[in-house]
Amino acid sequence: MGCVTDFFTYETTKSVVVKSWTIGVINRAVQLLIITYFVCWVFLHEKAYQIRDSSIESSVMTKVKGIGRYSKQIMDVADYVIPPQGSSVFVILTKLITTPKQVLNHCPETDDKYKCSNDSYCTRNNPTSNGFLTGRCVRSYCQIQGWCPTENDTVRMPIVMEAENFTIFVKNSVRFPIFDFERGNLPGSLNCRYDPHKSPFCPIFRLGDIVRLAGQNFTNLAEKGGVLSIKIGWLCDLDQSWDLCVPRYSFTRLDGVSEKNNVSPGYNFRFARYYMNPDGSEFRTLIKAFGIRIDVLVYGNAGKFNIIPTLINTVAAFTSVGVGTVLCDIILLNFLKGADQYKAKKFEEISDASTSFGSHMFKSDQTLAGRGDEKRSTDSGAFSIGL
Ligand SMILES: *[C@@H]1O[C@H](CO)[C@@H](O)[C@H](O)[C@H]1NC(C)=O
Repeated sequence: MGCVTDFFTYETTKSVVVKSWTIGVINRAVQLLIITYFVCWVFLHEKAYQIRDSSIESSVMTKVKGIGRYSKQIMDVADYVIPPQGSSVFVILTKLITTPKQVLNHCPETDDKYKCSNDSYCTRNNPTSNGFLTGRCVRSYCQIQGWCPTENDTVRMPIVMEAENFTIFVKNSVRFPIFDFERGNLPGSLNCRYDPHKSPFCPIFRLGDIVRLAGQNFTNLAEKGGVLSIKIGWLCDLDQSWDLCVPRYSFTRLDGVSEKNNVSPGYNFRFARYYMNPDGSEFRTLIKAFGIRIDVLVYGNAGKFNIIPTLINTVAAFTSVGVGTVLCDIILLNFLKGADQYKAKKFEEISDASTSFGSHMFKSDQTLAGRGDEKRSTDSGAFSIGL
């Protein structure tokens, strides 16, 4: 019976009201600070009342335009853009070292590493960067079997100066799958040229401007090659007007490391064009190409009001207001005048009956309760069985 009546009880915490101006002001100030933080930063700035979709889906199409001149030859888009599909990563060739009329044959190496005075220097079948050694020493260089004549890439070549005026048109369409929201980057008219201040939404960029906005020097970049990025940022608040969801363009050099590196500076690669003689034998033109690679990178997220994050964050805000009491307690019980008095009011000490001498009351109480009986239970789960 006793157990049952003990169980059906309600316990509540006792509050101590402190009528002190100092602690009262501190308490309200801390609460105000916490509320201000939640309202201004969490809700207004971080928009905690929205759900966010950062899994942006995007497609990028590019088109380069411009005509260049290179060693008495005219270069159009098909000549200088690789690959031609208009993908988000492409290279605009700015310098070419061509080795025409290569055929599969035997010829001496050009690299000084393969200088020789007799055949014993040239181990047969050892690979070089151009072919396999035949084991013979010809005209003081080891002979190779491979595409001949071999490339000499130490020659100085000019750059395609007109590349600075080439334009890149970027068509981008993005989608936020959670909200099923689609948007494109094309403005009403394409009769424009991107300018960070005058026309920040124009998707037609001059290569020279991209290089300059990325903080690079065009001649250096075209000479050695490099990788630049056009970043398109979509940060959309879908609670606001549709028109305010606009792209933001920025430009950086991505291979900043190779700029200062002496071992492998810049960006280059080789490719070949193959031809056939009327007699069926093949020859090729080897091209070592230096160019500016453009990577179009798209990032972004969208947010929209939703009741669940709003509720969660509101509850978090109210709970956090309670954190103020922890601080106030520390001040109240340690640093304020009359701290001992507050302490006495806040903590009631109840001594263990067996250690208090001369208290017959407690002793008789204990006798009444009896050994082995359940003495006390609390809602906090502190459950003790008397010994
Ligand atoms: C780029 O275009 C401008 C204006 O059309 C022209 O003055 C300039 O000479 C061109 N630059 C090159 C390198 O061709």
